[in-house]
Amino acid sequence: MADCDSIHDNVKDYYGSVIQKNTDLQTNACNVAGSVKPPLSVRNAIASVHDEVVSTFYGCGLTIPSHVEGLRVLDLGSGTGMDCFAISKLVGENGSVVGVDMTDNQLAVAIKYVGYHTKEFGYSKKNVEFVKGYIEKLGEAGLQDNQFDLIVSNCVVNLSPDKKAVLKEAYRVLKPGGEMYFSDVYTNKVVPEHLQKDKMLWGECIAGAMTWQDLVSFAGEVGFATPRLVSSTTMEAGCEAVATPLKEAGIRFVSATYRLFKLTAGAPANRLEVNYLGNVTDYPDELPFDALAKFKKGCPVNVSGEVVQIVRQSRYSSAFTIKDAEECPVDPFKFLTTAQASSGGCCGPPKQAVSGGLLSPSTATSH
Ligand SMILES: C[S@@+](CC[C@H](N)C(=O)[O-])C[C@H]1O[C@@H](n2cnc3c(N)ncnc32)[C@H](O)[C@@H]1O
Repeated sequence: MADCDSIHDNVKDYYGSVIQKNTDLQTNACNVAGSVKPPLSVRNAIASVHDEVVSTFYGCGLTIPSHVEGLRVLDLGSGTGMDCFAISKLVGENGSVVGVDMTDNQLAVAIKYVGYHTKEFGYSKKNVEFVKGYIEKLGEAGLQDNQFDLIVSNCVVNLSPDKKAVLKEAYRVLKPGGEMYFSDVYTNKVVPEHLQKDKMLWGECIAGAMTWQDLVSFAGEVGFATPRLVSSTTMEAGCEAVATPLKEAGIRFVSATYRLFKLTAGAPANRLEVNYLGNVTDYPDELPFDALAKFKKGCPVNVSGEVVQIVRQSRYSSAFTIKDAEECPVDPFKFLTTAQASSGGCCGPPKQAVSGGLLSPSTATSH
């Protein structure tokens, strides 16, 4: 594609006039059902969103993480507001949501339904607002440093001509300990330039998709901790005319959700033992962390230094206790006591530290 302005203009035209509702999409890229079943509270929040907003939802995943009560949330490329309104219900009246989008028609639908949802959720005043702007230049939209606890985005970063700028801006406006939790389309190979020039393929979230390796590089370069994959779903590039040239070029796509944490600098933490307290709403027994790791209530696990920092600095800090992990050499008497206490219990066999990862007695692992 030629330059940033023409990409922005083409995408605005695509979402502003070419398509009117999600059934107009030519591919399923911006309309993939997530692979993770959300908890009831999230399903209820989604179900309470107005029909016109639902019919113009172009997301490719579930961008609503756990533990959002009271948070200040930013949605990058909020479209007609589907995720913003659902999150507006979940954060409660003391939380707030800001949606940023560059396309007038999308914003107009979102703004039209602010009052409806405020009333629907029984709030005395609105807790969601929509702002016109580019996600690569959040400063121009008036967003200051360190303002948000959580950033979400659903099928938008791929549409940007400058993905690193988007991540850099997201990092800037997040508070320390904050998180970017977002779904997007990723490719196994860079899409050839002649296909990138196809306005429809770009608008449908295909031609602009980055590789997951690019995401890892950009995230690290702007300061985020290692991206944590939450879920991944195969994505079909729709009709023959679209699918054939891509297949011929050996290009495949997935819709994936990642979480990126903004951690404060400082000495890297040692491996330590973290113990989930079971106090996150909807997750009394087990808290999902990413695609590989879950924390079971009351089952301490030995985690990597980076996971220790995430637990310490993020909104999850009050959901865990952290203590020194067992060091080598291990006390054989203490080991026996632990083994006896945990055999047959919820935690399974005695826990052990694994180099470079997190091993819970159940399924948890990390990188
Ligand atoms: C695929 S739609 C997704 C909309 C919404 N997240 C949803 O799930 O329904 C992409 C949206 O991102 C917006 N968008 C794309 N690139 C953008 C950019 N660089 N800055 C601001 N908004 C952008 C478009 O206007 C459009 O509303």
